[in-house]
Amino acid sequence: MGQTHTLAEGSLGLHTAAELAELPGGLASLGVARLDGSGSAYGAGADDAPALADRTAVPSFAGGSSARRIAPDVWWVGASDRRLALFENAHPLENGIAYNSYLIVDEAVVLIDTIDRAVSGQFFENLETVLAGRAVDYVVVNHMEPDHSASLGQVLARWPRATVVCTGLAAKFVGQFFDDGLRGRCVAVAEGDALVSGRHALSFVEAPWVHWPEVMMSFDHATGLLFSADAFGTFGALDGNIFADQMGVPDDERRTAELRRYYANIVGKYGPHVQRALAKVAALPVAALCPTHGPVWRRDLGFAIEKYGRWAAYEPEDRAVAIFCASVYGGTESAANMLAAELSAAGVDDVRVYDVAKTHESYLVAEAFRASHLVFASVTYNNGVFTAMRDLIADLGDHHLQHRHVSFVENGTWHATAAALMRAAVSAWPDMTEVGQAVSLRSTVSARTAGEIKALAGAIAASLRGDVAHADETRLSDPLPPVDATSGASVRH
Ligand code: FEO
Repeated sequence: MGQTHTLAEGSLGLHTAAELAELPGGLASLGVARLDGSGSAYGAGADDAPALADRTAVPSFAGGSSARRIAPDVWWVGASDRRLALFENAHPLENGIAYNSYLIVDEAVVLIDTIDRAVSGQFFENLETVLAGRAVDYVVVNHMEPDHSASLGQVLARWPRATVVCTGLAAKFVGQFFDDGLRGRCVAVAEGDALVSGRHALSFVEAPWVHWPEVMMSFDHATGLLFSADAFGTFGALDGNIFADQMGVPDDERRTAELRRYYANIVGKYGPHVQRALAKVAALPVAALCPTHGPVWRRDLGFAIEKYGRWAAYEPEDRAVAIFCASVYGGTESAANMLAAELSAAGVDDVRVYDVAKTHESYLVAEAFRASHLVFASVTYNNGVFTAMRDLIADLGDHHLQHRHVSFVENGTWHATAAALMRAAVSAWPDMTEVGQAVSLRSTVSARTAGEIKALAGAIAASLRGDVAHADETRLSDPLPPVDATSGASVRH
């Protein structure tokens, strides 16, 4: 790498934040310095893939390595699962999912997170290839959810001298998911503690509830890599290219959609915690974001961080209308289509209609995180809200969606109850505003309700323009107090 490196004697291994605070130069006093990456720019070419002949062990039937070097001494050794239909048995995967694991090959060898057992064969092939006969000394567990830890037991069995470095709560989870005896292999670390592996030093950043309570992130002072656990993760397999900038421009909606869908559904519930974690990240000289799912962000970090900041604060991304429609015989759907057409005629370009019984809820949750104005249009069913709409509204509430403008359309041939029920549910979310007057259909759109739909479109268009005088807005609930990004106070989980 063209750099000399002298580690102070006795510096290898774990150091507490208190110990480091007593050193005048902190980690620099121990000989840890930023590497410039010369000769191995982040994401160097295919020659960074180790040759098959480099393997010293054949641990699985995977057969070939797909490991990639992402920075000096640092390798991606993860794997993608293209067969999994539902992530967490809940969220559809159109293009699979990547589980990222990273390996620092230094004076001590540090593995950062493992992967789901479904693709552990490829993982061990990658790992053994890069290790080339060396042993793993430390396994940093940033997140104990099994998609990142199911292979931990196998790793510890294969390298019996390896030490697990994790939060105290993660150590407890190690005992729960594996044999309780494995807790003896764990060393609990806390905010500011560091692991010095030689040229590299990982500082630990607690990030509870992003997305489980035991989560931490690990920051490598030598390279500026932030191993961010689920934060900044994206649905989708990795196809050789590891870096986000190799997959098109950052605001390509095809990419952002899966970044957003991952955030909204997996992490979206924990906005205040994400805000606190982002405040810590902002204080670090981060060169690249290395999540546990999807591509590594070495460029356009600001794009991903800005998106996260917006989503964590439940700020809509776009002045846009999402019409969520639950229809049985088409009357309610016709009203939704008419509303969309009237909105278009009123100059609203970004309007989308979704059949909530057809489109999977995870896409609808993501769309609700994107759009500023939501319309809930439901037939009355079993004297209540149509099942799929009821589930969607419950799911949005579970994800703590807030700070939105909403409107309602209901339908009922002999009795309509849906609008009042939907309004009552949405009013429990913070900082909600109703726009316009709810439209109550009787079976199909009539001359009367056609006029009401036109009036509702006019109110929504005015609200989008910020024309409060014509938006007919009604406050449904108050906002929550702003998050104190420095506070460790607990919030809703
Ligand atoms: Fe990707 Fe929370 O696990």
